[in-house]
Amino acid sequence: MKSFPAGFMWGVATAGHQIEGGNYFSDWYKWEMEGKVKNGDTSETACDSWNQLDRDLEILKKLSVKAYRYSIEWARVEPKLNKFDEESLNKYRDFTIKLVEANIKPIITLHHFVNPQWFAEIGGWESRENLRYFLRYVNKVVDTLGEFVPFWITINEPNVYAIKSYLMGEWPPEVKDRGRAFQVLKNLLIAHTEAYDIIKSRYPSAMVSVAYNFVPFYPYRKWHPLDIITAFTLNKTYNYAFLDSIKHGKFYKPIGSGEKNKKLKDKLDFIGVNYYTRYFVKYSKPEPELVDTGNKKTDMGYEFYPEGLRTIIMKCHKDYSLPILITENGIADATDEKRWKYIKKALEAVHKSLKGGAKVIGYMYWSLMDNFEWSEGYSMKFGLYKTKRNPLELVPRSSASKYADVIKNNALTD
Ligand code: NOJ
Repeated sequence: MKSFPAGFMWGVATAGHQIEGGNYFSDWYKWEMEGKVKNGDTSETACDSWNQLDRDLEILKKLSVKAYRYSIEWARVEPKLNKFDEESLNKYRDFTIKLVEANIKPIITLHHFVNPQWFAEIGGWESRENLRYFLRYVNKVVDTLGEFVPFWITINEPNVYAIKSYLMGEWPPEVKDRGRAFQVLKNLLIAHTEAYDIIKSRYPSAMVSVAYNFVPFYPYRKWHPLDIITAFTLNKTYNYAFLDSIKHGKFYKPIGSGEKNKKLKDKLDFIGVNYYTRYFVKYSKPEPELVDTGNKKTDMGYEFYPEGLRTIIMKCHKDYSLPILITENGIADATDEKRWKYIKKALEAVHKSLKGGAKVIGYMYWSLMDNFEWSEGYSMKFGLYKTKRNPLELVPRSSASKYADVIKNNALTD
């Protein structure tokens, strides 16, 4: 039996655009309407959570989670420039209060990949000037519901957003440009630190961070110097440059070239870890090559490697000596055959890390239910609950009751 510390925050994670449905004023919705998503899917219905928040609350209670990570959609709160939608804000507030009443700690994400369409039209995250709009929205949210929120994620996966939307051009606005991608990443970094200040000035005891996507990189040819250097560089730039910039108060490569900025320094109260898989890399020009090892895979095509979570936790512990919250970890598995094995191994990794001295304070499974998986549409199924369509219904998979047991025992029992 592997017990977890008292008060360990067991939870699940979602994001507004992926579950709510009808986020009409967002850049993503517009892009989906252009037929860009797999199978022509759109987030029009998603899981209909915007109309069924009480249903979501009921299943959270059934799972007996201690925390719930969800996001606020800026495009709902400010659908048109300067026009705040008080009704939507109050709906988020009411839901947040209901969570607190149910003894479920709200963990709120303020930006999870999606922007209001008007923000995209004025240049989005490429423009340093535009940060003021984001910060004004943050102020508004903190004003409305800040008193109920112990944990905040300012930006979800800034590295993934910059890479997918501005380097690989696979997500809106489909830009493929290194310089622009790193400019966006830099602006997200600054936005985080300024949002951090806004929240902390109002609620000094709130815990604030980003949810960062970590991927341990390994050399494909174990002893080949060029592969070793490639893996080393990717670990540094992809995994640690952003957080190191905050830790030391200077912009590390590729975000900057070492210039100091005191305002960044130490603006993290914990490390939010999103972890899914690892990559093997081979040196090649102009870009490193990701090599398929032929190992067992998830539906996303990622290597099935939950154990890697420990590598990431221990490295974060060593580098930042801050509490660590697993803000996302999960598997796309339509059959649910691999899901519990994955979760169990991930939790064993967390348990070992705790034994190794890391201060892991909680674990959020991604996701509560199958939802709108960005450019993959509804084809990827991450949910503890299966989302049946026509008519829409959420049905627990067997992993859901296994996870609920772990939560009730505060331990892995087999
Ligand atoms: C990370 C993202 O934050 C989330 O939106 C996405 O659905 C999951 N990973 C699964 O890919």
